[in-house]
Amino acid sequence: MTRILITGGAGFIGSHFIRYVLREHPDWSLVNLDKLTYAGNLKNLEDVEDDPRYRFVKGDIADRALLDRLLSEETIDAIVNFAAESHVDRSLLDASPFIETNVKGTQVLLEAVRKHPVERFLQISTDEVYGSLGKGGVFTEDSTLLPNSPYAASKAAADLLCRAYHKAYGVPVLITRSSNNYGPYQFPEKLIPLMIRNALLDKKLPVYGKGENVRDWLFVLDNCRAIDLVFERGRVGETYNIGGDTERRNIDVVRMILKGLHKPEDLIQFIPDPRGAAHDFRYALDCSRIKEELGWRPTTDFAQGLRETIDWYLAHQAWVEDVTSGAYQAYYEAFYGA
Ligand code: NAD
Ligand code: TYD
Repeated sequence: MTRILITGGAGFIGSHFIRYVLREHPDWSLVNLDKLTYAGNLKNLEDVEDDPRYRFVKGDIADRALLDRLLSEETIDAIVNFAAESHVDRSLLDASPFIETNVKGTQVLLEAVRKHPVERFLQISTDEVYGSLGKGGVFTEDSTLLPNSPYAASKAAADLLCRAYHKAYGVPVLITRSSNNYGPYQFPEKLIPLMIRNALLDKKLPVYGKGENVRDWLFVLDNCRAIDLVFERGRVGETYNIGGDTERRNIDVVRMILKGLHKPEDLIQFIPDPRGAAHDFRYALDCSRIKEELGWRPTTDFAQGLRETIDWYLAHQAWVEDVTSGAYQAYYEAFYGA
């Protein structure tokens, strides 16, 4: 039996990964450590909460004493660190929680692992650490880290700490850097779920600038499969890019959503880009390493994945209402204006 500590498992990607692991690896068990910030939601895991191979612990990855206690009382073989403040726009409003969780939290985890060694430490990172591309080119794992938002800078700092703890102390670190994920259970602050929610409420869809920025969309389950492969078979000390081979302009994604919901295009509202110079124009990844070494490739066609996602939000409007009650409104007004 392999026992894994998953951090941030009550969020979007982490909750999918927990479900994926419990289904695909009957001999693995999991401890999910999550602080339950605005983005963490135990409702994302209702279907697994009674599984005897699953344990939830509420807590902060930046809490040294808690990590020390948890790693002393549990026999943990490996760690997958999803826990993070994950939204660029929030980092532009206040970078402090990003430094606290993404930088300090990662360092506390790495330090805990020095004291209580594990076989593998997988850091979940992002393509945003590389900065922005123009119309052409792709990032490889060796591209320079040139982050442009406080979010991206905090993730780059965490990646560098992982590298240093591997070099200095032999912590068995691996890093994945994926492109933009989409799918069920994504908090409606990110592009796709925010646009679906607004369209369902017949609210305006705020597109930054002219909507010409390009993202490479990856269906969350394709990412889970990639993370699982890197976790099991990736080379310690290495970084693996994970992309969706699906570059789309934001405006084209928003139009697909409106079409999928039979809503009119005049709901689109182009707004002056609130990210300014911190808004990366384009991300694209060279994923030859994971493709050649581990035989992975994304298998979900974007039209099909987006349809599945839209259908999930249509069927889970109570979930959306629940996660957007309370503090969400204040955030929305602070960022987008009333
Ligand atoms: P999310 O915001 O949906 O979830 C983050 C989770 O971490 C939440 O459950 C939250 O409660 C928890 N958390 C936050 N601070 C914590 C702390 N101090 N201690 C313990 N738990 C804490 O994020 P997500 O979209 O699922 O992203 C997961 C990881 O993947 C992040 O590291 C993110 O940087 C990375 N990533 C995300 C994307 C994407 O498109 N969503 C793309 C590339 C990389
Ligand atoms: P987002 O989902 O926040 O992911 P990231 O910035 O981490 O790539 O945004 C994706 C793209 O969509 C990005 O170019 C910004 C744009 N965007 C909008 O135009 N309007 C919005 O309301 C949001 C949230 C994003």
